[in-house]
Amino acid sequence: MPHTIALIGGTGPEGRGLAIRLALAGHRVIVGSRDAARGASVAAELEQALSGRTHGALSGDANEGAVAAGEIVIVTVPYDGHRATLEALRAALAGKIVIDTAVPMRFERGPHPVDVADGSATEEAAAILTESRVVGAFHNLSATVLQDPDAPVDADVLVTGGDAEAKQIVIALANEIAGVRGIDAGPLRFSRFVEQITILLIGVNGRYKAHTGVRIVGLDH
Ligand SMILES: NC(=O)c1ccc[n+]([C@@H]2O[C@H](COP(=O)([O-])OP(=O)(O)OC[C@H]3O[C@@H](n4cnc5c(N)ncnc54)[C@H](OP(=O)(O)O)[C@@H]3O)[C@@H](O)[C@H]2O)c1
Repeated sequence: MPHTIALIGGTGPEGRGLAIRLALAGHRVIVGSRDAARGASVAAELEQALSGRTHGALSGDANEGAVAAGEIVIVTVPYDGHRATLEALRAALAGKIVIDTAVPMRFERGPHPVDVADGSATEEAAAILTESRVVGAFHNLSATVLQDPDAPVDADVLVTGGDAEAKQIVIALANEIAGVRGIDAGPLRFSRFVEQITILLIGVNGRYKAHTGVRIVGLDH
C-alpha cells in the first residue's frame, strides 16, 4: 500500500536519492526543506528525472508542512543540524514513524566519527522524539547510486529500533527499493555500529573510486 513519506532536509543528495527510489516504488513523496520554495523546486527536478517512468507523486514543502502530511518521515539532514531540527519538529512528529539516516561524522583528511552522548544519532533522535516511533535505516546506501534511476542498487539496509512493528514497516519499505534487502539489525543500541559502517564505506569508496554498500551473508532469505 502506498505511503505518504516526508523527507526532512530532502533537498540534499541522500534525500533526493531516497525520494527517487521511494517514488519509483509507488509512494507519495514530499521533499521537505527549510525553504518551501527549495523543496518544491527539488521535487520538480526529481519529477523531471523520472519522466517516462511510472512513479508515485512527488511534491515539495517546508519541513513543517511535509511532516504534517507524512505518515512516515525520513530525516536526511546532516548531523550538525540533527538535534535542533528534531527538537523544533518534536510535536509534529509525535505518533509517526521517524526513520533516521544521519551519520555523525566529520571530514578532516578523510571521514571521522563524531562522538554522540546518546551513543548514536538514532538513539539521540529517540531521546528527543519520545512520542515518535524512531527507527534507524538507509545509512549505508550511497546517495550517488540512489540518485541515478538507471543505476542498480545492490545492498542491504540494516534497520534498528525498539518498536518491532515500526521496524517491520521500514524493512518492508526498504525491500520495495529494487535491489535492496531490509534486515532487522537489532535494537536502537546497535545503531552506532550501523551508522559507523558508513564511515568505513566512505574510506573504501575513496580508495577504490567506487560507491559501495553492505551485504550480510549467510541469511537464508
Ligand atoms: N550522502 C550520502 O551518500 C549519505 C549516505 C547515507 C547517509 N547519509 C546521511 O544522510 C544525511 C543527509 O546527507 P546529505 O549528503 O544529503 O546531506 P546535506 O546535503 O549536507 O544536507 C541535506 C539537506 O539538509 C538541510 N540542511 C543542511 N544543513 C542543515 C542544518 N544545519 N539544519 C537543518 N537542515 C539542514 C539542507 O536542506 P535545506 O537547505 O533545503 O533545508 C540540505 O539540502 C546526513 O545525515 C548523512 O550522514 C548520507
